Amino acid sequence: MADITTLILNDHTWFRQQFARLDVLQSRTPPPIEALGKVWGPLAARLDVHALAEEQIFYPQLLRKGENPEAETLDAIGDHNDIRDGVHAAAGHLIGTPEWWQAVGQARLANDEHMGEEEREGLSDFRQHAPIGLRESLGRQFAAYLGAHPRTTGLDTSDKDPQAYVEGVEAGFDPGAAPTDGSLGIGSLRGRPGR
Ligand SMILES: [Fe+2]
Ligand SMILES: [Fe+2]
Repeated sequence: MADITTLILNDHTWFRQQFARLDVLQSRTPPPIEALGKVWGPLAARLDVHALAEEQIFYPQLLRKGENPEAETLDAIGDHNDIRDGVHAAAGHLIGTPEWWQAVGQARLANDEHMGEEEREGLSDFRQHAPIGLRESLGRQFAAYLGAHPRTTGLDTSDKDPQAYVEGVEAGFDPGAAPTDGSLGIGSLRGRPGR
């Protein structure tokens, strides 16, 4: 039975390994486009799904149990947006082109910076302040979410307003609930009047 902070850490290790595989492929002449796609496709999907799983399962509980959760969560959602921006920019270019490498590099940089911070802040905070029973129960949910979403099909991977996300969770909105009319999803809260 795995603690959610361990599962998140495992994903981070996997991300680093996949970017290392891209380094090896990049060193070849000519660049093996098909092989690049086979590494990047699952990596891009997992970067998006991992961020969503954290936003639906980890950060709402960090906000309840953490010692300094608001600042950590605001940072994390902003970082997730930067990662998403890189991943989605890459999707707009042909694999192996300079523009694609630039977008992949942007996603990598944002992800590297974020993982270090998340490991040092949110994950550390949660290990110290959330009971092991909760961490394991969330670990089960996290694993189930990842298993149910090998791809991003059907998921809303758009950027979220960090402040609206935190306020939404604190107001009791379920970040995992699908919006019924486009107005109640956490990701849509930035559109509320007065914001
Ligand atoms: Fe993470
Ligand atoms: Fe994260």
